[in-house]
Amino acid sequence: MGNDLEKVLYTEEQIQTRLAEMAQQIDADYAGREVLLVGVLNGAVMVMADLSRKLQTQVTMDWMAISSYGSGTKSSGVVRILKDLTTDILGKHVLIVEDIIDSGLTLSWLVSNLRSRNPESIEVATMLRKPEAAKVDVDVRYVGFDIPNEFVIGYGLDYAERYRTLPFVGTLAPHVYSS
Ligand code: XMP
Ligand code: MG
Repeated sequence: MGNDLEKVLYTEEQIQTRLAEMAQQIDADYAGREVLLVGVLNGAVMVMADLSRKLQTQVTMDWMAISSYGSGTKSSGVVRILKDLTTDILGKHVLIVEDIIDSGLTLSWLVSNLRSRNPESIEVATMLRKPEAAKVDVDVRYVGFDIPNEFVIGYGLDYAERYRTLPFVGTLAPHVYSS
């Protein structure tokens, strides 16, 4: 990726270590109950793949695609369902799996949407969160890392659909998105 990367925030090893800790916490909390992991496409694919495989808890998986972001770096606040869940979540323990929480607008919309379908419980796990960018308060039970309010890429996160496959999380050099 040439010099598009500014710096590495979390290495592959740091991410995997943190995910293992989160998985232990989730296993302890759900204590033998079955959990439906709801991944938010596309960003959460890497977190979903790695976190789910570290869990002892019995899980099933479903996916939603929602859009609140274009190809730019600012949240629009407008949420649209591009792909809905395939399964009925009524009476299930739902754990939303997210890549990143920025303003929290997307997540807050998602949580109330899913809550209206009457799951038994609903919680959120996210790899990254930007506390300084929060515009709404959302209860997030599992957070990988709190990060500064900078645009990040890698480990599922994109800029204009690129860089998702990087195994680490880094910041993008400003020249990439300001030019
Ligand atoms: P909000 O503001 O609604 O945004 O919490 C959440 C969604 O916005 C995307 N997002 C990012 N994507 N690097 C990215 O690649 C970032 O730094 C970033 N911040 C927010 C992401 O899709 C997330 O689900
Ligand atoms: Mg994105």
